[in-house]
Amino acid sequence: MDVDIKLRVSNIEKSFPGVKALDKINFSVKKGTVHVLCGENGAGKSTLMKIINGIYKADAGEILIDEKVVEIQNPIKARSLGISMIFQELNYMPEMTIEESLFVGNWPINKYGNVDWAEIRKRTITLLKKESLNYLPETKLKDLTVSDIQMLEILKAISYNSDIIIMDEPTSAITQKEVELLFKKINELRDRGASIIYISHKMDEIFKIADEITIFRDGCVIDSRAKEDYDMETVIAQMVGRKLENNFPKEDIEIGEKLLEVKNLTNEGNFREVSFCVYEGEIVGFAGLMGAGRTEIMRCLFGLDEYQSGEITIKGEKVRIRNVKDSIDKKMVMLSEDRRRYGIIPVRSVKENVSLGSLKKFIYGGRLHAKEENDTIGDYCTKMRVKTPSIETSIESLSGGNQQKVILAKWMVTDPDVLILDEPTRGIDVGAKFEIYKLMTELAKQKKGIIMVSSELPELIGMCDRIYIMAKGRIAGELSRETFSQEGIMRFATKTTS
Ligand SMILES: Nc1ncnc2c1ncn2[C@@H]1O[C@H](COP(=O)(O)OP(=O)(O)OP(=O)(O)O)[C@@H](O)[C@H]1O
Ligand SMILES: [Mg+2]
Repeated sequence: MDVDIKLRVSNIEKSFPGVKALDKINFSVKKGTVHVLCGENGAGKSTLMKIINGIYKADAGEILIDEKVVEIQNPIKARSLGISMIFQELNYMPEMTIEESLFVGNWPINKYGNVDWAEIRKRTITLLKKESLNYLPETKLKDLTVSDIQMLEILKAISYNSDIIIMDEPTSAITQKEVELLFKKINELRDRGASIIYISHKMDEIFKIADEITIFRDGCVIDSRAKEDYDMETVIAQMVGRKLENNFPKEDIEIGEKLLEVKNLTNEGNFREVSFCVYEGEIVGFAGLMGAGRTEIMRCLFGLDEYQSGEITIKGEKVRIRNVKDSIDKKMVMLSEDRRRYGIIPVRSVKENVSLGSLKKFIYGGRLHAKEENDTIGDYCTKMRVKTPSIETSIESLSGGNQQKVILAKWMVTDPDVLILDEPTRGIDVGAKFEIYKLMTELAKQKKGIIMVSSELPELIGMCDRIYIMAKGRIAGELSRETFSQEGIMRFATKTTS
């Protein structure tokens, strides 16, 4: 069969200070296909995509579209060549409105040569209506949920009518229903002959949507085949370059005293009368569909939102949590699902991001113990395989998954009693997921209590001692390890009355 090559990259190389991100990359994408890129965190996937989109300049190599060499100096040039991209890191301006964000850089102009706001309003309303998004065009992005912002980004990229659409982990922050909508759209795009490059760490997704799969490792292409010629084990083995022994390093750990007890916690509109507890050495899961209220509860516990009524007891002491400081003082910390908004301090180094949460630990006797600080942080980064040239590197230059690991390290260093992990493995590659699970086990052994909110049932089932299942702002059920099953969890999660 003779299929046209739409996009070809030839011998692309790219280095950053201290890292060779891409080493002689060759690969090609056919017309009317979905080409999935897999690879560990830091393998170079996003870097290659940014080169194709004109954000970075390659040190060497060529890009060909329809087998003709093209120069892509910037994203505007990329768009004129029919390339659009959905970025891995949601990089939005909170004060921007929906309509501004949809048309930024692409403003319709009226006959007087000014930005045509009436036209923008009209097109925005049409688009929102078509996608059943219930927002006004003038809504500010900061008032939207992460998943709606991501969905808008997706719609925007698709609306350009491009022939090459790059999607860098588009589903990391959207709901299951939206994933289905996205897949439907991808199929439509493919049917009209567009080429889609799709990056994801989610194996089930990859096998659902791919026509072709290419595996990256340490800046090189390892292999590239049609989906039919791959199976999951092979993909994983090629990605990590080793065989993963065991998916879930769960151990039997003695359960100790009650660490955290929550009674009848209510935040009107989000959740009602939620009661649960966490013991020392326990990993407690929170399952539920998106929007069930899990993140909202955790936000209240961590002092990001207020609760109207209810009681929180930590180690036998009744506490009132009004802000994040209250929570950290009580040795309860949270890894947030939206690392852009609440996780990283962008321009700072890896080291600063880790140690800012626990400077007190390194400052005593009136001075900062820099060596101790460096050693501790270095230690955690090694343990979690954070891929960075040094701990002095700016956190923003790390790959998405590695940023997540740094935030996790930050909270580990504070030595908390209760650790709330909201989607801790989102955007994390299979190898590093295993490292995070191992760390969770280790923390449990140190008698810490861990709450894990996750949308991935296998990891909840694999790692937890108990799972609470939420539906519509209430706890709909609770299962203990002996009774875990995906069906059992889903039955509670989809419960319509309680
Ligand atoms: N702007 C930058 N400055 C310095 N180093 C960078 C920059 N962008 C990427 N890197 C480095 O290049 C390497 C490849 O990163 P890249 O973001 O392409 O990985 P990735 O495959 O997309 O990973 P992930 O799955 O975590 O998103 C990493 O070592 C990363 O730290
Ligand atoms: Mg990436």
